[in-house]
Amino acid sequence: MELNNQSYQIQGLEMIELTKKYGTPLYVYDGEKILSQVKLLQEAFSSVDLKIKYATKALSNINILKLLKKAGTGIDAVSIEEVKLGMHAGFEPSEIMYTPNCVSFEEIQDAVELGVMINIDNIPMLEHFGKVYGNSVPICVRLNPHIMAGGNAKISVGHIDSKFGISILQLKHILKVVEAYGLNVIGLHVHTGSDILEAEVFLKGAEILFDAAREFRDLKFLDFGGGFKVAYKEGDISTNILDVGQKVSAAFKQFCLEYGRKLELWFEPGKFLVSESGYLLVRTNVIKSTPASTFVGVDSGLNHLIRPMMYDAYHGVVNISNPTGEQHIYSVVGYICETDTIAADRKMNDVKEGDIIAIRNAGAYGFSMASNYNSRLKPAEVLILGGKDYLIRERETFEDILKHQIDIGL
Ligand code: LLP
Repeated sequence: MELNNQSYQIQGLEMIELTKKYGTPLYVYDGEKILSQVKLLQEAFSSVDLKIKYATKALSNINILKLLKKAGTGIDAVSIEEVKLGMHAGFEPSEIMYTPNCVSFEEIQDAVELGVMINIDNIPMLEHFGKVYGNSVPICVRLNPHIMAGGNAKISVGHIDSKFGISILQLKHILKVVEAYGLNVIGLHVHTGSDILEAEVFLKGAEILFDAAREFRDLKFLDFGGGFKVAYKEGDISTNILDVGQKVSAAFKQFCLEYGRKLELWFEPGKFLVSESGYLLVRTNVIKSTPASTFVGVDSGLNHLIRPMMYDAYHGVVNISNPTGEQHIYSVVGYICETDTIAADRKMNDVKEGDIIAIRNAGAYGFSMASNYNSRLKPAEVLILGGKDYLIRERETFEDILKHQIDIGL
């Protein structure tokens, strides 16, 4: 988003005009930003055989998936539905990693039928897999490296109390099951959390993966998960991707030499690829002053963007209707019957009723975590590519709220 001639624009398109054309609330994605993030990552790891498996859950519109496919990525899917979505968007099964957690064995069998790479995250599932498939289907094993990492407790998933992956302390048990059934383990995986700034955390994960990898003979790839941090606040720093690329690639190449085989290096970024590309554009319904605060009440809330309430996440807010006005302190709040504060005590240019507020970093875990709470409709989504705007999801209608309800005639 750039301020050009007194108007906020994306690729030369005026954002206010987009809200006139499509209404509010509106999710808008800058496709060029997504492509430039892919490039950045590819460049940072250009000295190794990098495979990007975009974390579909972050933003799962099929057009975003198609855009990423064109840019040369694969995907990581966490449900059978995401697997199917990826295939619908044109990904080959071989480009899809399926990383489920606590799903039924039936769902895993469905994924095997579809031909995608299965990432096994618990020992009972490894045993089931061995009994049914033996060595006929190659697999990846998700390890829990016991590293505390990530922006907050809810998104730290690689520590000892986490439900994810198989504890690295259970490696011997894994090896026993692998041997008993002759399992064909071709990949090992770790994912420690989201919003990780330091290269050292990725290096620590890498070292644990390397140690475990020494116990397996037929590996083809090591998957380091996702979790690169992007800037949310002004002045915030993002993961220095070039630094991570250089350090992790160097360690990885060293390991490959020792292992005696060139492996592929996988990452599964979500936020890094799509967070900054997205904006949620909302309209100001009311300015409400109390003795303590001035609230900007907007036509959205935790039903459309739950991150501020669920993780205390910071999202920048800009009054794009008034690029030059005097600044005041406001709290931007939603219209839901809960305390859905989107942004507390922020400076914004003078806001009046009808003004459009752009909420930043809405690309990752924005729409994909949206709901119909309060029986509200989900917003439309627009993708901007090559200087043109494309509607990629219709705004919901009241019929959608009733669609799956069954009136039993009471
Ligand atoms: N790989 C695995 C196995 C994951 O569980 C995740 C995220 C990723 C990759 C991608 O992580 P990323 O690069 O986006 O940080 N809803 C939360 C984030 C939860 C992420 C869950 N797993 C948020 O909005 O902050």
